[in-house]
Amino acid sequence: MIRFARTARRSTSRDRRLKATVAMTDRASWMVVDPSAGSGGGPSLADYRVFVGPPDKYDVVAALQFTVLTQLGLRERHRLLDVGCGSLRAGRLFMPYLSPGRYFGIEPEQWLVEEGIKHELGQDLIRLKRPVFSNDASFTLTAFGQSFDFVLAHSVFSHAAESQIRHCLAEAEHVLTTEGTLVATFFEGRTSYAGTGWQYPDPVAYRWDDLARFVADAGLVVQRLRYEHPNHQAWVAIVRPGHESQIPTSLLA
Ligand SMILES: C[S@@+](CC[C@H](N)C(=O)[O-])C[C@H]1O[C@@H](n2cnc3c(N)ncnc32)[C@H](O)[C@@H]1O
Repeated sequence: MIRFARTARRSTSRDRRLKATVAMTDRASWMVVDPSAGSGGGPSLADYRVFVGPPDKYDVVAALQFTVLTQLGLRERHRLLDVGCGSLRAGRLFMPYLSPGRYFGIEPEQWLVEEGIKHELGQDLIRLKRPVFSNDASFTLTAFGQSFDFVLAHSVFSHAAESQIRHCLAEAEHVLTTEGTLVATFFEGRTSYAGTGWQYPDPVAYRWDDLARFVADAGLVVQRLRYEHPNHQAWVAIVRPGHESQIPTSLLA
């Protein structure tokens, strides 16, 4: 039973922006956006793996999320909130690792969580590890009434409007422990997305200065991580002011 809560050369920033622009042009091309058109043979958004990204990278993107968080210090005793946990691509690695009751996920598309459990995890592991899920669609990180050592938002800011990112950051400020870390990815671009809604499956981009301002306005500090991403997203670690040094310098870009 799932518990649902209620509710080589270092790249220059110009290189990274260009890479992001190229990747963004291609990014949604792996999927048939209209599931009813999927019978022609193309991968369909109705598939739980396809929905969250290129299916040939489902495994490596899971491994990358697990690697980044454990290198940043995630341990089994910690509480992790996976915002936009999708079909549990990363959750299927985090849940076995974390102690029971320590994995929390927010995912508005409840069917993704159900498919992930059915095909990737199984009910035995759910019984053993007791994850908690919410299908809230308003970035209500406070819905669980818990504080978190780590909050993960992988490939979420890469589709979100400014107001959604700002709300997510404000909520993160409420739920992060004093030494907590929010790990997120986003597409860095020459201009920032000015739309007012979630855009999917096509991605959106933000200028670094704009993202840093959203984070600062929420009372937090952002640092860029050195990890590459198969889809050329940038990795960032967001912490409380004065806690920047808890991110090892060897992991900073
Ligand atoms: C590109 S997928 C990434 C999923 C997952 N983080 C992963 O790495 O596999 C983005 C996810 O965000 C979810 N999402 C959309 N709106 C959301 C919201 N308001 N709050 C949380 N997640 C949301 C989507 O349903 C989708 O599963």
